Amino acid sequence: MLFNACNCASAFSPAAGALGAGGAGFVSAVIATLAAGARTQAAKTLRGDVPEVERLAVRMVTDNIVMQFVPTEKRDGLVIERRTGSNTSPDRPPRAALNGEWGLAMHAESAAAGETRHVLIDFGYTPEVLLNNMAILKVDPSLFDALVLSHGHYDHFGGMVGFLKAHGSALKRKIPFYVGGEDCFCIRRNPGGNFGALDRKAILDADLTLMMAAEPAIVADHAFTTGRIGQTSFEQPLQPSMEIVGIFDGFGCFPDKMPAAKNTGSYIPDDFEHEIATSYLVRDKGLVVLTSCSHRGVINTVRQAMRAAGTDKVHAVIGGFHVVPPLGDDYINKTIEEFRDIDPDYLITAHCTGDRFYDLARLALGDKVIHSAVGTRFVFGG
Ligand SMILES: [Fe+2]
Repeated sequence: MLFNACNCASAFSPAAGALGAGGAGFVSAVIATLAAGARTQAAKTLRGDVPEVERLAVRMVTDNIVMQFVPTEKRDGLVIERRTGSNTSPDRPPRAALNGEWGLAMHAESAAAGETRHVLIDFGYTPEVLLNNMAILKVDPSLFDALVLSHGHYDHFGGMVGFLKAHGSALKRKIPFYVGGEDCFCIRRNPGGNFGALDRKAILDADLTLMMAAEPAIVADHAFTTGRIGQTSFEQPLQPSMEIVGIFDGFGCFPDKMPAAKNTGSYIPDDFEHEIATSYLVRDKGLVVLTSCSHRGVINTVRQAMRAAGTDKVHAVIGGFHVVPPLGDDYINKTIEEFRDIDPDYLITAHCTGDRFYDLARLALGDKVIHSAVGTRFVFGG
């Protein structure tokens, strides 16, 4: 097996030229394909106006850092609810504490016309942290109306199998699970070695409805995904991982669903064509773009959301911006200038943004740049 049920990486590495190799794993993968065909849908492409919500709360369930001693703060159109020591009990040693890790998971709760929708975007790096933080933050999976995976990196889906094991039975039946395309399932490696692959069987076993959203699509009536993120700015995104097309021990992406040019039989640079961002249009405020990891470029991501929504007004950008080394100050300053042009009210930096970007953006843009942390809840509108 490439991975066991907990999605842990083994030492196995698909060899070049092993595409389509037989074996028990491949047989089970073929069966999975047939099942996937029945339960995989093309997401409904966004046509016309995107929906408006009156209120949106984004809770950082998994993020890289934990903050203390930062009070809750009210801004124009935004309340930043910080978690400050509320998970400790007097006279008892701490046992349940919010954990930070390299990863991202966000819970978005939106309200419009008297109705509420809940979406989980990404699953963090480990199930232990995701489940721990969900329990402390009282995130109720039975309320979820949709799940979204931004891209096929382990720090975004690593907690998924454990989440489905723990909470799969509580989820709404056939709940939609959005991804940007088949690429999301490819096996990847990064400079550290095996970087895992999304577990298609776990998704099917949990009876989720797999939604392929290569184009902008409505999510849970209130949100929309960007679809494929165009390369329209100066940005030249890093390619920190490699991917291989094919099925290996039941994991991977199906060659017949991938572009022929990528089906080379060996690892190729990951272009993140499958990456998507989830966004909301908040009434009288503008777009709130949840970037996740911005491998296609954070400016490209925001501009893609603006195009999809047909609006120039961006209220907030929240998530990982991925402006990290070896990208240097020139690149960072160009990104900041692009943000000046877009003129969002708030930039909320999380996960993979990069400390240097945060420092320079604070200098240039002041306190509209806000640090995220585990447990923080950002409430937009009303
Ligand atoms: Fe990431």
